[in-house]
Amino acid sequence: MKLTSFAAYTMTLFFTGTLAAYPITGDNVNCRSGPGTSYSVTKTYAKGHEVTISCQTSGTDVSGDSIWDKTSDGCYVADHYVKTGTDGYVTSKCSSGAGATTFDGIPSVGVLHHGDATKHFCTASVIESQHSNVILTAAHCISGSGKGIVFSPGYHDGDEPYGSYPVTAAYVHPNWNQNHNIDYDFAFLTLGKGDHGGKAVDVQSVVGGNILVTSDGYQNTVEVVGYNDNEQKPRQCRVGTYKAETGQLGFTCGPFSSGTSGSPWIANYNASTKRGNVIGNIGGWHTGGCTSGVSYSSKYGTGTFSVYSRANTGSSGDSVRGGASSGC
Ligand SMILES: *[C@@H]1O[C@H](CO)[C@@H](O)[C@H](O)[C@H]1NC(C)=O
Repeated sequence: MKLTSFAAYTMTLFFTGTLAAYPITGDNVNCRSGPGTSYSVTKTYAKGHEVTISCQTSGTDVSGDSIWDKTSDGCYVADHYVKTGTDGYVTSKCSSGAGATTFDGIPSVGVLHHGDATKHFCTASVIESQHSNVILTAAHCISGSGKGIVFSPGYHDGDEPYGSYPVTAAYVHPNWNQNHNIDYDFAFLTLGKGDHGGKAVDVQSVVGGNILVTSDGYQNTVEVVGYNDNEQKPRQCRVGTYKAETGQLGFTCGPFSSGTSGSPWIANYNASTKRGNVIGNIGGWHTGGCTSGVSYSSKYGTGTFSVYSRANTGSSGDSVRGGASSGC
């Protein structure tokens, strides 16, 4: 919230312990099921009502303040409407980087590298396509044609259980190449055949693929699978997404840091087939987020589908503009 006439409150509040109560500053302020204005309203507070904050998190920006306070009622209120006495955090974060656990991975998600899988630098996933050879990652993971990059699906602990596949072409949206527009931070790559079980095969015939869905809204439950640079196993988190800002989805779970760019956000995840609908990838705002506990994705749309369609038909690829900056 803004720094306005708070001196009296801070003096009181800072000495009353960790679960202090703070007054609501607006009329009929909504308390929502998640940290964003697109979540449903579960409660409304009258002006002056005192709320107890159990933790704080980041969410939709409200008048320049993106902090949301989780109250002891179990819902989230925009910090802009709570007189905490500061525009920063006054208590602990709701999810301070915890929640994503390591595991041995799923077949359709793997690492991008330059020939040594232990030195992976981004995450990618197989998307169903007519030639069984298309994967998805973040556009900011690619510079140039993509040639020289290798995809190892299901990678963990130095093992490439389903083979490795060379990138043959990269496809991005023109808006990405124009000015690194954060609403278009996705890239589709086509792959050549890899060696698996002594045969030259297409990746999707070995690991299956997820379905690209470009029409979902901001709120979904997704399974995110991603590889941190400094780890040799992926992490997974099942989490709700929210509208971080127009054109950007967010979720709060981690640690997803360097290396997890491109990680698929899989909705309708089926735990037995280990597949579902990919509705986003870590990337977008701040090339995926400035902290490991909060990640973003460009919101997919018709532009995403048109880029995918070019990869699907195998038309000639793009030279991807590199050097995107996170701005963190
Ligand atoms: C998951 O996939 C299996 C195999 O196709 C199917 O039998 C099952 O119904 C699916 N589960 C859900 C929850 O959709």
